[in-house]
Amino acid sequence: MNRQQAVLQGSEQLSESSPSDLLDAQLLLSFVLQCNTAQLLTWPEKQLDKDQQLRYFQLIAQRRRGHPLAHLTGSREFWSLDFFVDNSTLIPRPETETLIEFTLEKFSGDKQIKLLDMGTGSGAIAISIASERPGWKIFASDISEPALNLAKKNCQQLQNSITLVHSNWFDNITAHDFDVIISNPPYIADNDPHLSTGDVRFEPHSALTSGSTGMDDINHLCLFARHYLTANGWLIIEHGYNQKQPVYDCFVKNKFTAIEQKQDLSGHTRMTAGKITL
Ligand SMILES: C[S@@+](CC[C@H](N)C(=O)[O-])C[C@H]1O[C@@H](n2cnc3c(N)ncnc32)[C@H](O)[C@@H]1O
Repeated sequence: MNRQQAVLQGSEQLSESSPSDLLDAQLLLSFVLQCNTAQLLTWPEKQLDKDQQLRYFQLIAQRRRGHPLAHLTGSREFWSLDFFVDNSTLIPRPETETLIEFTLEKFSGDKQIKLLDMGTGSGAIAISIASERPGWKIFASDISEPALNLAKKNCQQLQNSITLVHSNWFDNITAHDFDVIISNPPYIADNDPHLSTGDVRFEPHSALTSGSTGMDDINHLCLFARHYLTANGWLIIEHGYNQKQPVYDCFVKNKFTAIEQKQDLSGHTRMTAGKITL
């Protein structure tokens, strides 16, 4: 079987389970052959050996059962960087880039910022910001040790020096002078029906869910962040598309000022930020 035949057969097998069947088949075959999709398409008649064929169709079968592409290939691009991913935490999502754009715009000057990314998971937020602002002091925390190991692997791969802290939210955070606390915390309601569809079926609930309304962790961060921020420090949080008002109210209740809300590329309000005035 040659490459072109493998892609066509693979995409056919995925046609009922994945809306991007052709692309998925191309990406999985590129992964098996350790080449990029452009290289794959320039030599379509090259034959696959037996092992390559076996491995490829095993991956197609797993994808057909719903396994996220990122888990099958072990990586996901975010902020134009390649991150290792695994099942210890969330696969980085494009909407999270909204938080990074906001942070970089807000602090575009020369000031050296001290930033804490809470619930860092793969390290996507902290590492992307560090790649743009190498002079900043960046800390990243998570309650999950496997997630922190993943973040460490990504720091090493992307040559970033970030301080990783194992902590249940603020429990082990000892500094009280952060200019920015940023977080994409769990924010899905425990009984949300979306939890049984798509990629989230394969991601840990500890990275996704947060009580009956999805607001437990956001409430906690809003309540305690002020004790860890400098005067005029910012709290920047990602949340669900349907949490615009409750998150805004939570920032107001906790006396944040200059509150701003931003939309993601699909036009949904997915980020709220506010400044603390001590
Ligand atoms: C939605 S994921 C975000 C991961 C990553 N920041 C991203 O944007 O791709 C939430 C992360 O919060 C972590 N987390 C959940 N509860 C936590 C807690 N009590 N303290 C610290 N981190 C927590 C999870 O382990 C998970 O890695």
